[in-house]
Amino acid sequence: PVIHLKDYRPPEFLIDRAALHFDLGLEETAVHAELDLRRNPAAKRGDGDLYLDGEHLELLEVALDDRTLPPAEYEIREDALVVHRVPDRFRLRTRVLIRPADNTALEGLYVSGDMLCTQCEAEGFRRITYFIDRPDVMTRFSVALAADAERFPVLLANGNPVGEETLEDGRKVARWDDPFPKPSYLFAVVAGDLAAVSDRFTTLSGREVPLNIYVEPENTDKCDHAMRSLKAAMRWDEERYGREYDLDVFNIVAVSHFNMGAMENKGLNVFNAKYILARPDTATDMDFAGIEGVVAHEYFHNWTGNRITCRDWFQLSLKEGFTVYRDQEFSADQSSRGVKRIEDVRMLRARQFPEDAGPMAHPVRPDSYIEINNFYTATVYEKGAEVVRMQANLLGPERFRKGTDLYFERFDGQAVTTEDFVRCMEEAGDIDLSQFRRWYAQAGTPVLECADSFDAHTGAYTLEIRQHTPTTPGQSTKLPLQIPFAVGLLDAAGADLPVQLDGETEAPAPGTRMLALREAVERFTFVGLDAEPVPSLLRGFSAPVIVRYPYTDAQLTFLMAHDSDGFNRWDAAQSLSVRLLLELVAESDKPVPEAYIEAVGRALKQDDADADQALLAEVLTLPSESYLGDQMTVVDVDGIHRAREQLAAAIGEQLRDALLGVLERNQEPVEYDLSPAAMGRRALRNAALGYLMRAPTPDIVERCRAQFEAGHNMTDVIAALRCLVDADPEHVGDAGEQALTAFYQRWAEDPLVLDKWFGLQAQSSRPDTLERVEGLLEHPKFTLTNPNRVRALIGAFAVGNPLRFHAVDGAGYRFLADRILELDPLNPQIASRLLYPMTRWRRYDEIRQALIRAQLERILEVEGLSNDVYEVVSKSLGQE
Ligand code: ARG
Ligand code: ZN
Repeated sequence: PVIHLKDYRPPEFLIDRAALHFDLGLEETAVHAELDLRRNPAAKRGDGDLYLDGEHLELLEVALDDRTLPPAEYEIREDALVVHRVPDRFRLRTRVLIRPADNTALEGLYVSGDMLCTQCEAEGFRRITYFIDRPDVMTRFSVALAADAERFPVLLANGNPVGEETLEDGRKVARWDDPFPKPSYLFAVVAGDLAAVSDRFTTLSGREVPLNIYVEPENTDKCDHAMRSLKAAMRWDEERYGREYDLDVFNIVAVSHFNMGAMENKGLNVFNAKYILARPDTATDMDFAGIEGVVAHEYFHNWTGNRITCRDWFQLSLKEGFTVYRDQEFSADQSSRGVKRIEDVRMLRARQFPEDAGPMAHPVRPDSYIEINNFYTATVYEKGAEVVRMQANLLGPERFRKGTDLYFERFDGQAVTTEDFVRCMEEAGDIDLSQFRRWYAQAGTPVLECADSFDAHTGAYTLEIRQHTPTTPGQSTKLPLQIPFAVGLLDAAGADLPVQLDGETEAPAPGTRMLALREAVERFTFVGLDAEPVPSLLRGFSAPVIVRYPYTDAQLTFLMAHDSDGFNRWDAAQSLSVRLLLELVAESDKPVPEAYIEAVGRALKQDDADADQALLAEVLTLPSESYLGDQMTVVDVDGIHRAREQLAAAIGEQLRDALLGVLERNQEPVEYDLSPAAMGRRALRNAALGYLMRAPTPDIVERCRAQFEAGHNMTDVIAALRCLVDADPEHVGDAGEQALTAFYQRWAEDPLVLDKWFGLQAQSSRPDTLERVEGLLEHPKFTLTNPNRVRALIGAFAVGNPLRFHAVDGAGYRFLADRILELDPLNPQIASRLLYPMTRWRRYDEIRQALIRAQLERILEVEGLSNDVYEVVSKSLGQE
C-alpha cells in the first residue's frame, strides 16, 4: 500500500483531550483511554464511522458517552478499531492490554533492561492505545501512571508533574499534565528504577526550570557533558532564535535499547544511551561531539517540531531539516566553525549523495512512501538542513531571523508544511523563492560543470556554469534550480582579488562573491584582472551540489596552501588525494609522486603554535574507501583498498620525521581537556600515528602500545587499538590480539564501550574478518535484540568494511542477508537499515552485481516480510 502526498485529506475527527491511565507491568500493561472527539469542521463528512488506528492491542472494552458498546456497534481490524455511526461530538473510552516484554520492534511501549519506555514517532502510538495516530491531530494529554513502587519508583510522562500518591496495595500513581496540545507521536512515558542527575536553568524571562537526566544508577557519573550541552543549547536558542523553554521541568532519559539516536517527546526526551553517557575514559571526542549535537537537536525540536509540528509525514523535513540546521550551527558556535562544516559536508557526501544517486532517491519532501520509517533519511535530515542553510544564506542573518520569528508567531500550536516555512522566508526576506522551492520537490544531486576563459587584452575572465540533475526513480525530467554559488578569485600570490562583474563601475573589496544560478547555463564575466586568476568555487559549500572544474594538480596544491576559504583549502586537498588515489587504482605499479608527498609535508609544517590542529587533521585524512568508490564508474573494491594503503604507507615512510614531530608537539597533557584545541591536538596526533603505523618500526609500535596501555582517554585508546588490530602481525606480533583481550577484560560490563570492541573487529581489513564476525555472533555478549550491538557488529562490517563485505566470493552478502532475515520479524526498522549497502548493487562489477541481486531476490521471496524491508528491497531491484 503506497501512501501519496497528493492524497492528503484533513482528519475527519479531532481529539481535543485525552486522559490516559496506565497500569504498568513488564509482561502486561493495561491502558485506559478517555478521548474527547469531535467532527473536524474543516473536513468532508465520510461514512459516519470513526476509524482509530491500533496495532497489537487487545481490546477489553469500548464505551461511547458512558455506554458500553455491544460488538455490533464496532469492528476490530488488524490495524484499526472502527466505531459505527458516531455522533458529532462524544467521549470515547477504551481499555486495552499490551505486552511490553514481547515488543522487540522497540516501537510503542517496550522494555529496556528493567525499565519501561516508549518510542512513538512515527506511528508507534497506535501500539499503545486506539487513537487517530497522525501528526495533524493535536491533543491535550493528561496521564496517570500506576506501577509497583519498588520496581518502578520513577514514573515519567510529558508535561508537568501534578502529583504522586501511594495506593493501599503499595502501588504508586504519578500524574502528569501537558498543557500544550501535541500529536501522538510526541507522547512518552518511562518507568523504572532510575537515578537522576539534576541541575537548573533560568530562562531569559527568569523562570527557573529543573533539569533532570535519568539513567540507570551505575551511570550517574557519565552525565556531565550531556547536562552541560543541554544548558548551552537552552541559552543558545534564546539568544539566536528568541526561543524559551515552556514547561515547569525538562527531563531526559537514557535507554540502552533504542532504534535511532533520540526522540524529542514534549518535556521528556528519550535518548539512546550512546548520546548521553560519556566519561573521558569511556567516550571518544567524536562521542562527546555526538552527544552535544544530539542533546541540542532534541532540545531544539521543542520549538521546531513540537510547538510547530508537521501536517503529515511528507513534511518531515520541516522539523528535521530545520532542526539539523539549528544543531549544526549550535555546534559550530561551540567549537571550530570551519571544522564543523567540513565534518557535515563529509557526512553529506558520504551518505546523502549516494542515496540521491541510488534506487531509494527521494526529494526532501517525498511524494510517496510505503513505510514512513524508511524516510528518516540523510536526504530528509541532512539535505533538508542544506536547503534551510541556503535560505539563511540568501536572506542573510537579520532577514532570516525575521523569517523565523514570523514562522514561530504565525504557526505556533499548528501542524504545517514546508511550503508554510518557505512562505515566511519569502515574506520576511522580501525575496522571490518560487524557483528555489524546487529543492523540496526534486530529487538527485545537481552537477555543475564549470569552464572558464581569460582575455589577456581586456583583463576579462569568464566563468560558464552548466547545471544538470541526473534522473532519479520516478522523476525523469529535472528543472534548473536556484543555486547560491560562492566564488573567489585568487591572484598568483594566493591573495583574494576583487570579484567585479562586467558592467559594474566600482570594484568590490577583495573576497567572496555570492552568485545566483538560475538557468541551465549561466555565464559570468569578471573584469579588472591583470592576469588569469585561479577560481575558488562553491566556497563554504554554499549549495549541496557536485562541482566539476578541470583543475591541474598544481592549482589544487596552490588552493590547498592559499585559499582564504578554509573549507575549500580542505576540499582542494581532498580532490588532490582523490585524483591521485584513482590513478593509483588504475595503475597498480605507479609510484606516489614526490609533489604529493611534498604538499602533505608542507601541510604538516603548519602544525605550529597557532595552527588549527583540528583543521589540519581533517586535511590529513584520506578520503574513505567508500567515498573513493563513489567517484568511480564501477567500484574497484580491491584496487581502492590497495591504493589507499599504498598511499598511507608512502606518507608514513617518507614523512616519518615530520610525523614524529607532530607526535612530539602534540603530546597529551596530564590534565584531560575537552576544549576544541585539545580535541584538535588529539585528532592530529592520532592521524600522524595512523600513518606511522602503516610502516612501523619497533619504536613506533612501542609508542602505540604505550598509548593504548596508558589508557588516558578513550580517544587515544581506540586510536592506538585500531592501529594495533589493523597492523600486519609481521610488524606487531600478537600485540593486536593482546590489546583486544585487555580491552575486553577492562570493559566487558560497559555496553557502550563494548560496542567499540565489536565494531573494531568488524572493521578490520584482515582476511579472516568475516569468520571472526561470524564467531562474534555466538559471543555471550552479542544479541540481536539490542540495536546498538547489531549496528556495532553487523552494521560496522557491512558499511564500515567495504573490502571484506564486498569479497568477491559473495560470503559477505550472504551473511548480511541471513542477518536481515533473522532480524526482520524482531525489529523491522533495524533490519531495513541494514539493507543500505546492498541497495547500491548497480555500482559494482557484474560478478558482484549478480551476487548481491541474488541475495535481494532471496529476501524478497520470503513470506511475511515487513513493509520496511519489502519497500527497500523491491525498490532496489527496480520493482516498485
Ligand atoms: N525525531 C527523532 C529525531 O530526530 C527521530 C525519530 C526517528 N524515528 C523513527 N521511527 N525513525 O531526532
Ligand atoms: Zn530530529
